[in-house]
Amino acid sequence: MTSPFVEATPAARHAAFAELAAAGPVRRVTLFTGVHVWLITGYDEAREALTHPDVIKGKGGDGPHRDSVPPDLAAAMDHHLLGSDPPDHTRLRRLVSTAFTRRRIEGMEPEIRRIVDRLLDDVAAAGGHGATVDLLATFGSPLPLTVISELLGVPEDRRRDFQEWTAVAINGSVHPAETFVAAATSLITYVRELIAHKRAHPSDDLISGLVAARADDDRLSENELTSMVFLLLVAGYETTAHLICGGVQTLLAHPDQLDLVRAEPDRLPAAVEELLRFNGPAQVTIPARTAAPVQIGGVTIPAGEVVVPAPLAANRDPRQFPNPQQFDITRPPASHLAFGHGIHHCLGAPLARLEARIAIGALIDRFPHLRLAVPPQDLRVQASMLINGLTTLPVTVT
Ligand code: HEM
Repeated sequence: MTSPFVEATPAARHAAFAELAAAGPVRRVTLFTGVHVWLITGYDEAREALTHPDVIKGKGGDGPHRDSVPPDLAAAMDHHLLGSDPPDHTRLRRLVSTAFTRRRIEGMEPEIRRIVDRLLDDVAAAGGHGATVDLLATFGSPLPLTVISELLGVPEDRRRDFQEWTAVAINGSVHPAETFVAAATSLITYVRELIAHKRAHPSDDLISGLVAARADDDRLSENELTSMVFLLLVAGYETTAHLICGGVQTLLAHPDQLDLVRAEPDRLPAAVEELLRFNGPAQVTIPARTAAPVQIGGVTIPAGEVVVPAPLAANRDPRQFPNPQQFDITRPPASHLAFGHGIHHCLGAPLARLEARIAIGALIDRFPHLRLAVPPQDLRVQASMLINGLTTLPVTVT
């Protein structure tokens, strides 16, 4: 059976997940790394795993090159929401939520529109006279990184450094240990400086909000603040880039649906939801562990095993979504698992949705002749355990 985690065409990845799902919604599989995990491909079963009190994340600390990471650097990256369970998670999420509010995100809409328009100028310039443009490199990737920099309050003159460190630090496993440690050290050192600056000169950005966040007498420690900023970068950058680019690829492959969104832009929010269901960027959620024997979908998973719910498969479970292999933006709303489920449900979902709606809407509006520049079967998804994302998205815009 082909692994869904290797480089392949987008269709081959979905076919590999469909094959795994057909063999049973809860199955013990061996990953290409040789590690055994319980892969959950069924929709109800994935929801159950994501809400089961004995399926826990455990204490972070399993990032790349851990033997080479100095303890104080690890502590500044690991104390975050996705590496914690209740009651620690409950406390952190409560504090963080007082700063990461829907109002703050909605307030970013004009700025996101400005950033999108600027990036589309770059796409237009690069794609003049029918030239091929990689939409991932020129649009999908810079957009979320610029938005997060803006949200955090990273000043313009430090953006280039910040973005270079981030690109290496969040993809540590593809770089040698020294390169990763150097980038992560620079990033965390800079984030500490930024926090100190915002403490002295509070403003209306998210770091100032996190520094000021209080619940009763409680507040975030220095390591929790740096870890939270690190998590926002890790969780919000590539996922959003691939929602946009995987979304554009899916729309180009379904011209009737693309025509429908162009003709009726009010359908954009529904289109983004269907894109999340049909081809979301999170193949699986962060692996969890059983703290005791756990029954899911009639299968008993022993204690101490790794459990990996797979939204990409669960979102095409025919028991939940009729005709699941069909991309249909007029589908009645039904909750997909692209942002996870339960206590770790994506904190940044409103931001990701807003960025995707603005980005995809503005792109298809500005470039009526947008086309794929290669045959669809030449597109590849990156080899990855977590992310479902294209390696490049070559298009023409004129
Ligand atoms: C959690 C997906 C964008 C911040 C999650 C989880 C998923 C997910 C599946 C749950 C992981 C688990 O249970 O193991 C996505 C997708 C995105 C996206 C598909 C884009 C399309 C963002 C953005 C941000 C963000 C833009 C913030 C800037 C977070 C945080 C968590 C999280 C902080 C942890 C929440 C917790 O543990 O309580 N995301 N995410 N995400 N996401 Fe997102």
